[in-house]
Amino acid sequence: HLTVNQGVACSSQARGASKAMEIFHRFFLFLRLLLLTEKAGRDILKAMKTWKELLPSSLRDATSRSEGGSGAAERSLALPLGEQSPQVTEKARLPPRGSWQARQGLTEGVLIQKEKTMKKVILTGDRPTGRLHVGHYVGSLKERVRLQNSGEYDEIYVMIADAQALTDNADNPEKVRQNILQVALDYLACGIDPAKTHIFIQSMVPELTELSFYYMNLVTVSRLQRNPTVKSEIQMRNFETSIPVGFFCYPISQAADITAFKATTVPAGEDQKPMIEQCCEIVHKFNSVYGDTLVEPEIVLPQNAACLRLPGIDGKAKMSKSLGNCIYLSDEPEDIKKKIMSMYTDPGHLRVQDPGKVEGNPVFTYLDAFSRPEHFAEFLPEYQNLDELKAHYQRGGLGDVKIKKFLNSVMQAELEPIRTRRKEWELRLPEVVEILKAGSAVAEKTAAATLADVRKSMKIDYFEDDNLLK
Ligand code: TRP
Repeated sequence: HLTVNQGVACSSQARGASKAMEIFHRFFLFLRLLLLTEKAGRDILKAMKTWKELLPSSLRDATSRSEGGSGAAERSLALPLGEQSPQVTEKARLPPRGSWQARQGLTEGVLIQKEKTMKKVILTGDRPTGRLHVGHYVGSLKERVRLQNSGEYDEIYVMIADAQALTDNADNPEKVRQNILQVALDYLACGIDPAKTHIFIQSMVPELTELSFYYMNLVTVSRLQRNPTVKSEIQMRNFETSIPVGFFCYPISQAADITAFKATTVPAGEDQKPMIEQCCEIVHKFNSVYGDTLVEPEIVLPQNAACLRLPGIDGKAKMSKSLGNCIYLSDEPEDIKKKIMSMYTDPGHLRVQDPGKVEGNPVFTYLDAFSRPEHFAEFLPEYQNLDELKAHYQRGGLGDVKIKKFLNSVMQAELEPIRTRRKEWELRLPEVVEILKAGSAVAEKTAAATLADVRKSMKIDYFEDDNLLK
C-alpha cells in the first residue's frame, strides 16, 4: 500500500525531529515498506501509535509534525483508533533496539500486558538476630534507601525474616522476638521510609510457608548441599551432622519470599548471591513445569567493592555478632571511637616510618567504603584524597593513630544522623508496631494474590469455578 516515494517524502520531513526520533522513524518506515499484508500493517501501526503515546509530549508533537506526509498512507490502512491508549507511566520510553518490545510482535495487547507484568518490585530483608551494623549498612541498607528514593520502583517490600532466623534459633524465640523492633528501628534510622516501603514481618505472611512447601518439590537435596552460603553457614554453626531440616531448606523459603512479591530486584549483600541464583532456578523450574507464573529476580550489589564485604574491626573476613567485631548503627560515639582506635591494621607496620600495607588493612577498607573527598577537606586537609593518604602510608611515615582518627571522624559524621533518627523512633515504638502491622497486611495481600496464581498454575485451585468437577 505504500510507495517508495511516500516513504521518501515522509522521511525528509522527519529531518526536523531529534536524532532519536529519526532513528525511530527509519525503523517505522522500514517496517511499513516491508508490510505485505494489510492485517500485519494494522497491527504494527497500532503498536506504533501506542509507542507514540508512551513518548513524552514534546517528542510526541515532533513525531506528529514529521508524520504529516504519511497521513494518506495511514488512513489507507484504516486504523481503528477508537480505543483508549493504555495506562502509561511517566517513565515509559521508546523500546530500545533489540529489546523484548522490539523483538516481539508489537501489538497493543502484548504491550499493555508486558507493561503490567514488568512492574519493578523490590523485596529484601534481614534476619532479626541482632541489631544491624555498618556491614549491613554499606553492604545493602544504603543501596536500598537509594533505590527507594530513586522513584523507579512500583512496589518496595523490606522484610524482617523472623521465620528464617528461627531456622537456626529454634530454641531461642525470645532473641528473635526482641530483635524485630531493633531491626525495624535500624531500618527507619537509615532512611527506609514507610510511606514508600512496606516493612513487614515474615511470619505474619503465612502464604510464604505454603509457597515454600510447593517449591520443595522442585529442589533436590544435593542442590541444597551445593549452595555455598548454606555450606559455610553449616560450618559456622557447627551443624556438621545435625542440620535442622528447616535450616537446610531456608534457600527454598527465601525463594518463596522473593517470588511471592514477584520481585524483580533484590538489593542484598554479596553473601546472598547463591540464594538469588537458587531462587532463579526454582522460578525456571516452576515456570517450565506449570507454565509462566513466577518472576525471575536480579540481585543488586553495592557498586563500591569495599562495601561488598566489610571486614570486622579485628580484620576477620566477616562482621558478626558472635565474633564481637561489629560497629552497630546504634553504637554511641564513644563506643565507635573505642572500636576504631582498637582496629586491626597492618601487623608489619610497627614504627611510623615503616612502609605499611593498604590491602587487607581494615582501616583502609573502611575508608574505601565510607570516606568521600569532602571528608578530607573537613577533617584531614593535608591530603586531597584517599589515594594520597594511601600512598603516604605505603611509603612509610604515616602512623596508624592518624588514619584511625580520620576514620573515626568520617564514621562519626556518617553515623550521627542515623543514631539521632533511631533515638527519635525509639520514643515512638507503638508507631513502629503500627508500621509493621500495616506493612504486613499489604505484604500478605500481595503474597496471597501470587499464591492464588501458583495454585491455579498447579491446578490445585479445586474450589475455584467448580474446577474439581471439570
Ligand atoms: N537471608 C537474609 C539474611 O540472612 C534474609 C532474607 C530472608 C532475605 N529472605 C530474604 C534477603 C529474601 C533477601 C531476600 O539476612
